Amino acid sequence: MRGALDRIATPLLDGLTPAAFLARYWHKRAHLIRAALPSFTDIVDLPALKRLAARDDVEARVVVRDGARWHLEHGPFPRTYWRSLPATRWTLLVQGLNHLVPRADALLRRFRFVPDARLDDVMVSYASPAGGVGPHVDSYDVFLLQGSGRRRWRISRQRDLALQPRAPLRILAHFAPREEWVLEPGDMLYLPPRIAHEGVALEACTTYSIGFRAPADQELAAEWLGYLQEHLRVAGRYADPQLRPTRHPAELPNRLVEHTTAVLRRIRVHRRDVVHTLGRLLTTPKAHVVFTAPAPPLSPARFGAALARRGIAVAPRTLMLYCGPHLFVNGEPIAADAAARATLRKLADERALPASERVTPLAAALLHDWYRAGWLILDGNT
Ligand code: SIN
Ligand code: CO
Repeated sequence: MRGALDRIATPLLDGLTPAAFLARYWHKRAHLIRAALPSFTDIVDLPALKRLAARDDVEARVVVRDGARWHLEHGPFPRTYWRSLPATRWTLLVQGLNHLVPRADALLRRFRFVPDARLDDVMVSYASPAGGVGPHVDSYDVFLLQGSGRRRWRISRQRDLALQPRAPLRILAHFAPREEWVLEPGDMLYLPPRIAHEGVALEACTTYSIGFRAPADQELAAEWLGYLQEHLRVAGRYADPQLRPTRHPAELPNRLVEHTTAVLRRIRVHRRDVVHTLGRLLTTPKAHVVFTAPAPPLSPARFGAALARRGIAVAPRTLMLYCGPHLFVNGEPIAADAAARATLRKLADERALPASERVTPLAAALLHDWYRAGWLILDGNT
């Protein structure tokens, strides 16, 4: 079923198949898609957004433009905060809407023709008239879906990416837009990384950013080194039976430097370690993510019966990836035999298991643990 998805042309991608869209635009050039989701209506209204922005497990920011100056504030925002804002030129941004509202999770999943390892989150912005976050570049691919109201987007392929030196957020010092569009509800703009862009609200409006992540090589290397630090076992110890008296006691012995070089050169990059590095890096939930455990949880026996009756779904906050026999859930490698692995890989791909799924005792035990941790949900609610 999933295999066929990349061959179905869809208005979401301007009448292209995912395969054609990826080949033509992905990571290459910007593309405007009129009526990508023609009947799209807002997932959250402003009062609901303000309630989310008041929570301490939600990442929220407010950006205010004051002439040539920019102000940035981080949430949580108390109920009284909003009175302090002007009528125009501010915007509220809430990250991870897909963790908070099932419809936003469903929206993100429409983009699953891109591997989960690249999916990040859905961010929503509410902008008052003339509000926006200023001209900037992102290092990630993004689909900017217009909710209610209209927003003017301007973009540029400029090379000069110098930033305003004193601004509290990344604002380009010299933005020279070359193209512009006014997006109406349901329109969507795809931007690859490093395209300078600025969205300004023509009236109060909302924009849903379906964002993708791509780890920086520095991050990959740092994560691998962290993994090695925990898992690398190196036998041996420096020895110097032939030591002679030194006239420079503070000098590092050359032999020690050479020995250390030889020890480090013996460290190899093994595919298994790389897979674990990636599995851990890409399934570790962000710092503020909190899972809601069922209270009280069902016993293993009652859980098994509920599983057979209702099936189970992956909680929107849960990250699952697999590679060959290796499987990772929320930052943890999972040990499972081949039969359990088949079930869990299906769960990872489909984000749910039907009631009809035949689950081995080992898989059922793992699912019960994850359900108790709030990583899975029995009833389809978060
Ligand atoms: C916004 O929604 O205001 C900002 C989205 C972006 O420019 O990446
Ligand atoms: Co941006």
